[in-house]
Amino acid sequence: MIHIKSKEEIELMRHSALLVSQTLSEVAAMLKPGLNTSSIDKFIGTYIADQGGVPSFLNYHGYPFNSCISVNDVVVHGFPNSRELQEGDIISVDIGIYKNGFHGDHAYTFMIGKPAQETIDLVRITKESLYKGIEKAISGSRIGDIAFAIQDHTERKHGYGVVRELVGHGLGRQMHEEPQVPNYGRRGTGPKLKDGMVLAIEPMINLGTREVFTEADGWTVRTKDGKPSVHFEHDVCIAKGKADILSNYAPIEAAEKKNPNLFSDY
Ligand code: MF3
Ligand code: CO
Repeated sequence: MIHIKSKEEIELMRHSALLVSQTLSEVAAMLKPGLNTSSIDKFIGTYIADQGGVPSFLNYHGYPFNSCISVNDVVVHGFPNSRELQEGDIISVDIGIYKNGFHGDHAYTFMIGKPAQETIDLVRITKESLYKGIEKAISGSRIGDIAFAIQDHTERKHGYGVVRELVGHGLGRQMHEEPQVPNYGRRGTGPKLKDGMVLAIEPMINLGTREVFTEADGWTVRTKDGKPSVHFEHDVCIAKGKADILSNYAPIEAAEKKNPNLFSDY
C-alpha cells in the first residue's frame, strides 16, 4: 500500500529531510585527503543526536553504522572504516534521520581533489539524471516514467551501467515504503503518482558494467569491474500535481564550493 501524507505530515517530513541536507553540508565542509570515513560517520552520529534526531540506518536490519559511506567502486551501503580519503576519490555519503515520526533519507557524491575526467562526467550525468527523474514526479505520470527518464539519460545516452539490484523507494514513517522506484523501466508502467506521495529517488550509476556484488560483510555493494559508481538521492513529494523536493542540495553545494579540497566545478 502506498501511504498518502497530509500537508502537516509533509511539513514534518520536510523537517527531517532538511536535517539530512544540513548534515550533508557539514560533511561537505569537513572532507579532505587523509580523513578516514569512520571519523565522518562518528561526526554524523553526534550531529544527528544534537539535532534531536535518530540515525535511521543504525540497526536497520542490523546495519552497524550511522551512515553509508561508499568510496569509488563501492556502489552503496559502504561501511565507514579506517581507510583515508585520497585525491581523486569519489565518496557518496548517504544519511537517514528519523525525527517527529518521519524519515529523511538522501545522498550526495563528492569528489576529493580532481578525479579522472570520465569520473567527473559520471558524477555530473548521474546528478542530471536525478533531476530528469524528478521532472517526471508529477501527478498523472507513473513510476515507470521516472525510471525511464533516469535510464534514458544514463544508459542510453551515455552508455553507463544502471544498477538493477537496488532501487529507490517510498519514504515516510518507515524508511522503505511502497512503491519501489527503479532507475530503469518502461514509460507508462507501474503505480500512478498522486498528491501526498513521497519518494526517495536515487540513481546508482556505474561507469562500466551494471553488474555488482555484495561483499562478505553482507552490506558493501561493489561494481564487478572495479570501476567507479555514483549515487545521488533526493526526497521528493508530489504536491498540487508537481514535484516538491523536500531535501535541499543548496547548502551542500555551497559548502562543496567553499571547500578547496573538493572538486565542484562540473
Ligand atoms: N538510502 C539507502 C536506502 O534507501 C540507505 C539504506 S542503508 C541501510 O536503502 F543500512 F539502512 F539499509
Ligand atoms: Co534511500
